[in-house]
Amino acid sequence: MKSLRILMLALFALFAVTLSAQKPNVYVLATGGTIAGSGTSSVSTNYTAGQVAIGTLLDAVPQIKDIANVVGEQVVRIGSQDMDDATWLLLAKRINELQASDSVDAVVVTHGTDTMEETAFFLNLTVGGTKPVVMVGAMRPSTALSADGPLNLYNAVVTAVSPASVGKGVLVVMNGRIYGADGVVKMHTTNVDAFGAPNSGALGYVLNGKAVYEASPKRPGGRPMFNVSGVDELPKVGIAYGHAGVSPDVVESMIKNRYRGIVYAGVGNGNIHKNLFAALEEARRKGIIVVRSSRIVSGPTSLENEVDDEHYQFVASQLLGPAKARVLLMLALTQTDDWRKIQSYFNLF
Ligand code: SIN
Repeated sequence: MKSLRILMLALFALFAVTLSAQKPNVYVLATGGTIAGSGTSSVSTNYTAGQVAIGTLLDAVPQIKDIANVVGEQVVRIGSQDMDDATWLLLAKRINELQASDSVDAVVVTHGTDTMEETAFFLNLTVGGTKPVVMVGAMRPSTALSADGPLNLYNAVVTAVSPASVGKGVLVVMNGRIYGADGVVKMHTTNVDAFGAPNSGALGYVLNGKAVYEASPKRPGGRPMFNVSGVDELPKVGIAYGHAGVSPDVVESMIKNRYRGIVYAGVGNGNIHKNLFAALEEARRKGIIVVRSSRIVSGPTSLENEVDDEHYQFVASQLLGPAKARVLLMLALTQTDDWRKIQSYFNLF
């Protein structure tokens, strides 16, 4: 009788091992954000981001274990308003290691929503390999009534294990939609339906545990545009915001503080106020790269339309808004100071 029980247990263990060997291995890198947020009231927007550890977040969604073997790793535990270059470089390097590992099939990154589009874009420019990399967050903390984190996390893992996600570059999954990293933008400060891709639209959606794609990203994943394996620091690049009656103070301060690049979040099609023009010309004379972008959320900042870019040696950001233009300019400046070459990078977007 005892030997029969041992045999049964051994068979059960073998069955369990075989089942888990069949499931994809998903590595979850946690960085904090509202998805890991905790508050004292379930009905208020007051809470502290990044309080809950990744193990607890995963335990709260046991359904994930039915579709994947999941390993969690806490990289940092911050609100994404505090995201910085060092953490971006750390994440890119770690994901590149995981891309090269035989025991990992896909990566999920939990992240605050405030700067998620910047991190997604940075990773999309610096991570190689075709294994899915899916970023996810939440608009409501884990303690809220109808918290959106658990379903978002489940949908992110669903997307990560879908064969259709292979080679699509870094993806963002929020509120049942799948976005490409290049196009995704946070569009609402508080609503759970906070993300959109105003120029390209969503790539697809997740419904009933299935990722469905309706479009492909313009730039497929695979080869990273920038190799950051030997990079420990990124060049200093700032953003100057355009508005009626703007003063040149911010641009002058960036020149004084030896910024290597300035992104101008212009009005309309990257138009520049007359108060600012001379300061931006001065920046350019000092070798600082000036990128014209727009504070408008959709449409391109196009080359040679409103401004004679060739004459002033300004770069036009095309479809990248100021925050993403800054990311691309920082990475471009690790390679070159040639404004034409840098324009050629922007022309890919
Ligand atoms: C954050 O970005 O960390 C706070 C806000 C959020 O995650 O929604």
